[in-house]
Amino acid sequence: MTAVAVKKQQAAAATPAAYDIKVRRMDFEFSDDIPEFWYGNDPFRTLLLAALSGGFPEGERFFIDSVRNFQDQVTDPELQQAIRAFIGQEGHHSKEHRELNAFLERKGYSISKIDRWVGKGMNMYRRRYSKERQLAQTAAVEHFTALLAEQYLLNSDELDQMDPRMAPIWAWHAIEESEHKNVAFDVYRATVNDEWIRRSQMAVTSVMFVTFTTLDMIRLLRESGHAGDIKMWARGINYFWGFPGRFRKLIPGYLDYYRRDFHPSQHDNRALIEKARRRYLGSKA
Ligand SMILES: [Fe+2]
Ligand SMILES: [Fe+2]
Repeated sequence: MTAVAVKKQQAAAATPAAYDIKVRRMDFEFSDDIPEFWYGNDPFRTLLLAALSGGFPEGERFFIDSVRNFQDQVTDPELQQAIRAFIGQEGHHSKEHRELNAFLERKGYSISKIDRWVGKGMNMYRRRYSKERQLAQTAAVEHFTALLAEQYLLNSDELDQMDPRMAPIWAWHAIEESEHKNVAFDVYRATVNDEWIRRSQMAVTSVMFVTFTTLDMIRLLRESGHAGDIKMWARGINYFWGFPGRFRKLIPGYLDYYRRDFHPSQHDNRALIEKARRRYLGSKA
């Protein structure tokens, strides 16, 4: 056995074995009487999530493909099963977010443009990045989605501030992102397991993710007619970076990713998942 193979096998052995990932088939409908600013009656927060939703279908397709590229190199049967559940969950997220995106489009927002741009961006990554880097990119974005899910949406009263017809899709997506947060990372550890690619790709992905989400959000705010509302900007920026500082509080968890001994399971999420599942999904989950 080569030194590289030994390193990979040791990394795989160090991986926690338990995955608790449930694929839930949802069928959300978004009626047109849901208010335009369905999140805290706030254009800033509503259109931030709308910008994210616009990128999900193509982004999640890329995540699935990048994991599939390495699926046949994974020997651990539990991780194989987890990969199938991961693909099931992400596939359903894309489907339900297309419904949400159609609702946002009916409200007058050009979400389909975000969908097209993200699709082009992902195709560019498929052409230009090695398969190893594509998987590292997925592991990095999955860390972002897990942080947003657990520490922003599930560990606060944010979901309660949404229209009750809108909160369940975000609760469901956050729960499942949290459930499968180990999968892309463990596939990476069990196959590529290169620290330079993992960490450098997180740095690149962070800049791209934050830049493009902000630009998309600004464009949507322009479409809403609120882009020039200075008070709204001040309130929004303070909310995320000042007090309560929802994004400021994500920074330590974000930086953990650069530690050599980082693993997503170090952020324990089970109590949050259970609480949100009972509150927002009830008998459906
Ligand atoms: Fe997802
Ligand atoms: Fe995910």
